[in-house]
Amino acid sequence: MDDTRIFEIAREAGSTVIPMRWSGGRFSLLDQRLLPAEEKWNFYENAEQVAEAIRDMVVRGAPAIGITAAFGMVLAAREAGSLSGREFLSRWDQQAANMIDARPTAVNLKWAVDRLSRVAAVAVQTGSSGREVAEILEEEAMAIWEEDIRGNLEMGRLGAGLLPKEGGVLTHCNAGALATGGYGTALGVIRAAVSSGRNLEIYADETRPWFQGSRLTAWELIKDGMDVTLIVDNAAGLMMKLGKVNAVVVGSDRIAANGDVANKIGTYQVAVLARRHNIPFIVAAPVSTIDPDMPSGDAISIEERQGDEIVSVAGTRIAAQGVKTVNMVFDVTPAELVTAIVTEREVLRPPYGPSIQKLFS
Ligand code: MRU
Repeated sequence: MDDTRIFEIAREAGSTVIPMRWSGGRFSLLDQRLLPAEEKWNFYENAEQVAEAIRDMVVRGAPAIGITAAFGMVLAAREAGSLSGREFLSRWDQQAANMIDARPTAVNLKWAVDRLSRVAAVAVQTGSSGREVAEILEEEAMAIWEEDIRGNLEMGRLGAGLLPKEGGVLTHCNAGALATGGYGTALGVIRAAVSSGRNLEIYADETRPWFQGSRLTAWELIKDGMDVTLIVDNAAGLMMKLGKVNAVVVGSDRIAANGDVANKIGTYQVAVLARRHNIPFIVAAPVSTIDPDMPSGDAISIEERQGDEIVSVAGTRIAAQGVKTVNMVFDVTPAELVTAIVTEREVLRPPYGPSIQKLFS
């Protein structure tokens, strides 16, 4: 079993970038820390290494993290293959907890690990051998990946019509092929709109401090032959005021049961600006990003990373020595600022509480 079919689906949709590989029983990741300067693939032997790669942001973006964690758990099952049922499950639980701990905000990570845990438990209980459990989990991880990319295409199909026939569309962070199984959520909607003939100028916020916009969104769109214009984060308001941005599309790391949306830091201020200028603010995310157990965004855990991400750029110190920093890397946009949430099943509209409840019932 390998990733041939995923690559075929992506290529057919016009997307050439896929951030992970499963081939010959080996898992590898495109090192996103080095893009766009270098395209380097790292190989992983075990679940601890995969968890470390997620923590260090070799791979990032909620759905891509979920798929990666699933393959990390396949490696964990292979390693524990010779253990007895009970020992296998106890080792599995340790590895699963370590994987989920790698990053706190994106719910897809826990969602994917929990899905594999349920499958592992059933396989062990029904007497499958260690090798068989690993094979069953490999199929499940592959299914998560394929569902993700097909879901992205569906989001594109459902969301494209929400964008203007002609005009500017702004995206924040990278919610593209690099952040998913290979097509994109927010960028998937934009890709589909462009393919269906909409004449869009795509604007990418640079997205400090990790520069997902300038380093990743710009790279993958240009690689696929699309036009993209980079702006600094604090230009978004002016671009809206000048009439150059007519819609915003972003991804999400976790959507609460009331429709509050956690996404990359800076998303909230873009949403406030969009409301000020009467511009639709659209979120594209798979159902696996919705956390029905999280009543509102207030309880979402916001990851805080090292301050050196802010005081240095590409290894060069840019801030005064001795300055203090706060580096919270996600924020929560209240549901009231969200025009629509595009999922692979349907486009949700406010009030989100009832529509999300219906989706999970
Ligand atoms: O810190 P990152 O790069 O993992 O943050 C990613 C984002 O905030 C994305 O917008 C989000 O995960 C949606 S990706 C389809």
